[in-house]
Amino acid sequence: MTSILEQLQDSVSQALLSAFGDELANTDPLVASTNNPKFGDYQSNVALSLAKPLQQNPRAIAQTIIAHLQIEDMCETPTIAGAGFINFTLKSNYIGQLLSQIQSDERLGIPRVQPESKVIVDFSSPNIAKEMHVGHLRSTIIGDAIARILEFRGYDVLRLNHVGDWGTQFGMLIAYLREAYPQALTTANALDIGDLVSLYKQAKVRFDEDEEFKQTARQEVVRLQAGAEDSLHAWQLLCNQSRQEFQVIYDLLDIKLEERGESFYNPFLEDTVSELKQTGLLEESEGAMCVFLDGFTNKDGDPLPLIVQKTDGGFNYATTDLAAIKYRVKEDGANKIIYVTDAGQGNHFAAVFQVARKAGILPDEVQVVHVPFGLVLGKDGKRIKTRSGETVKLKNLLDEAVDYARTELETRLTAEGRKETPEFINYVAQTTGLSAVKYADLSQNRTSDYKFDFDKMLDLKGNTAPYLLYAYVRTQGISRKGNIDFSALDNNTEIVLKEDAELVLAKYILQFEEVVKEVESSLLPNRICLYLFELSQKFNQFYEQCEILNAAEPQKTSRLILADLTARTIKLGLSLLGINVLERM
Ligand code: ARG
Repeated sequence: MTSILEQLQDSVSQALLSAFGDELANTDPLVASTNNPKFGDYQSNVALSLAKPLQQNPRAIAQTIIAHLQIEDMCETPTIAGAGFINFTLKSNYIGQLLSQIQSDERLGIPRVQPESKVIVDFSSPNIAKEMHVGHLRSTIIGDAIARILEFRGYDVLRLNHVGDWGTQFGMLIAYLREAYPQALTTANALDIGDLVSLYKQAKVRFDEDEEFKQTARQEVVRLQAGAEDSLHAWQLLCNQSRQEFQVIYDLLDIKLEERGESFYNPFLEDTVSELKQTGLLEESEGAMCVFLDGFTNKDGDPLPLIVQKTDGGFNYATTDLAAIKYRVKEDGANKIIYVTDAGQGNHFAAVFQVARKAGILPDEVQVVHVPFGLVLGKDGKRIKTRSGETVKLKNLLDEAVDYARTELETRLTAEGRKETPEFINYVAQTTGLSAVKYADLSQNRTSDYKFDFDKMLDLKGNTAPYLLYAYVRTQGISRKGNIDFSALDNNTEIVLKEDAELVLAKYILQFEEVVKEVESSLLPNRICLYLFELSQKFNQFYEQCEILNAAEPQKTSRLILADLTARTIKLGLSLLGINVLERM
């Protein structure tokens, strides 16, 4: 469907054209939904913005616009408020008609984009032999939500895991393992990832302290890069081992990803650098090959370089990203590439994008976006750590969330005198705990840091996953209690809306489409969270104020349809965030 917002925007644009002529053809109609019913449901500020160019009083402009508007089907006669705001109030029978339309559509009226275009979402991307940390958790959760939203809108999405599976760390690690744990280089799963990570740390210490070891490690890198069979085999084993550990997290969180690690681009690195050379962008600086950047300067005001080949001839993170862009544009046919990483990598991406554009690797029509996010902090506002001060293992963190959810659930069941099967308890605890973690992350504006706090994320009352899950359960409770099959409700029923609470809820349900479209371009999933939270609040008010099962017809069916549409909106909205609903909890 065309959302109400889009319809009003079109109507105001039309009115501007017919009232003032072609000159105003590209004027933004400045329509937005209002938060205050005093100003109607939607408002336009366009008359104010035109006062200067048209040299007229904004209220008079508003008058003229209203006289040219053709929206009788949708709205009551628009009114002018204050200095010249135009307020629109939707007609309740129009709202009822729209609700009937979305009721019979499993996409709730939200269209797919045309034509389909290809979007790559590069997310999660942990590093082999290093532990997946909370930053990777954020990337995983946010990246998955973005991918889901775009998939739902009909984009052809390629979800890529740009795993750090190459580089000098392997020389160090292999050299160390040859000494300390030779079986790990020849036998699969001789170590678990915890060991691998601590061995990596020990190897790093040796590397920094011991000159002879450093040389050995460097030779190992050379051997690996030259394709020595035993080195490659060892590398493969190490990668597999990490991969299995990452998969545990992906399975828990229901994340689908295609692994295409840094090593995948090895064969293209040399060509990428020669291409930069041909374009004349490449310069040598202190033995390294680099491209000097526009707009990036050191404290003396000199341009900063993006290094693409180190003094020892080796390639780096940036070279790989340049090669990856080329591959994604040429081979994958991407129209847009989205990178989800911590905000700390902002400069890296800005530099890589700039060089790729200049070198012609990245054509103008292909969009690249870095989607940055802030840090995950502990309850105390400092970087999240375990009690003994170590970095937190993701698996432990997720297990802890499920344990918390289980304790909370068991307390609640006891208080309510309910007896449930262990299967029910496990399933609800697992779903609630993991949803709470995802939702806590997604409900923040991703650019800010957020505090990881189990009590808050599991609170049944705030803007949390349990609150939304509970609102959904409530809707399903109506159908159970009244023995009503929502899907069998007659969608030819005329929906009557009289009470304030039902009108407010109905209008809000219809705003979901606008929110989804907005997030598709802003890539800020917290907007969906806030919407679902407010929808649930409005539903709860409706539930308290309006009789449903005991109402007389036609109210009863209308209200059941409202409950069903609320439920389906919550379910769809949560699914876009990677969260499953519960029928009971
Ligand atoms: N492996 C990197 C890290 O752990 C993230 C990779 C992001 N993607 C990319 N194309 N650079 O920070």
